[in-house]
Amino acid sequence: MAMSSMLRSELILGIESSCDDTAAAVVEAGRRVRSSVVASQEDIHALFGGVVPEVASRKHVEVITRVVQEALDRANCTWRDLGGIAVTNGPGLIGSLLVGVSAAKAYHVATGLPLVGVNHIAAHLMSNFCDLPEQEGAPEDFPAVCLVASGGHSDLCLLTDFGQYEVIGMTRDDAAGEALDKAARLLGLGYPGGPALEKAAREGHDRFSLPRPALGDSYDFSFSGLKTALVRLIEELRGESPAGAVLPVADLAHSFQQAVVDTLVRNTMRAAEAYGARQVLLAGGVAANSVLRAELSAAGKRLGLPVRYPPLRLCTDNAAMVAAAGYHRLSGGQNDNTGLDVFSALDH
Ligand code: KG4
Ligand code: ZN
Repeated sequence: MAMSSMLRSELILGIESSCDDTAAAVVEAGRRVRSSVVASQEDIHALFGGVVPEVASRKHVEVITRVVQEALDRANCTWRDLGGIAVTNGPGLIGSLLVGVSAAKAYHVATGLPLVGVNHIAAHLMSNFCDLPEQEGAPEDFPAVCLVASGGHSDLCLLTDFGQYEVIGMTRDDAAGEALDKAARLLGLGYPGGPALEKAAREGHDRFSLPRPALGDSYDFSFSGLKTALVRLIEELRGESPAGAVLPVADLAHSFQQAVVDTLVRNTMRAAEAYGARQVLLAGGVAANSVLRAELSAAGKRLGLPVRYPPLRLCTDNAAMVAAAGYHRLSGGQNDNTGLDVFSALDH
């Protein structure tokens, strides 16, 4: 990653507000995380069983300046120590994105620091290169295939260099995290569903056969059929059992999670082989799932391919990954400054 920087400092402030987390971070040279602050709105949205866009934007407005200040304080630096500002400008909830982008523009005008907009998916990819242990070798082995699986995305990306990637597969309906969240809701496991489902699945077995949807030769995903299969299975089990009998929630959670993991691993490894990837990377909230991590690693071992994943705290939405992604453009002398705009998922 050696590159001569055109910045007065290697410290970049990252800001992220594309969904329901308000985050700010200071990262040095695109990889050393000096601070990473995440104000989660999870408890509020849990009351509604999902993210309520209007509520999310309001909460971002309430906390963003404090979150940014906290990130500077924890990194032990002031505005004068920074070299630039990076902010997520899409895809995401338009009202939420606007809060982060407007704040970043104001900071840019007030401080004169260069400003860049960062694509949320590009940021997730960069989480793989942050805070690596010193001894870890060759993180910049390209091409690499990265699975970005979150509440909003199931994208397979082909990375050819830092910040350079192509989306080679995506979901045609629900994202993997969304499917896990919906399944958890059907099983009465609460929100966010991914971690709740993972916990319940630990007590269960792969007892029910559920589909592993495949879409011909493409690397795309489709999870809505799997969700429908779960709905039918639950109806069937309810119909069979005497009134009031409890559902085998742990076994259902286990079987559903296994079907999602198998599908993700299968497409990722097919793509890695087809594109001659030298390593497989993982990112996004679903990358926190221990079964997915273990099964992807095992599949990598079988193919002799290194599989790497970010530390847990960098898997879910954060601003360190945004700062890291922004660094590569800023250090090359690029900026968006006052011309920066937001784009919603619809524009993506
Ligand atoms: O990347 P992220 O924080 O936000 C989005 O950009 O969506 O991802 C959130 C998603 C949610 O669907 C959540 O259920 C899922 O990541 N998730 C998990 C786990 N932790 C979070 N899914 C499976 N296992 C987990 N341990
Ligand atoms: Zn995300």
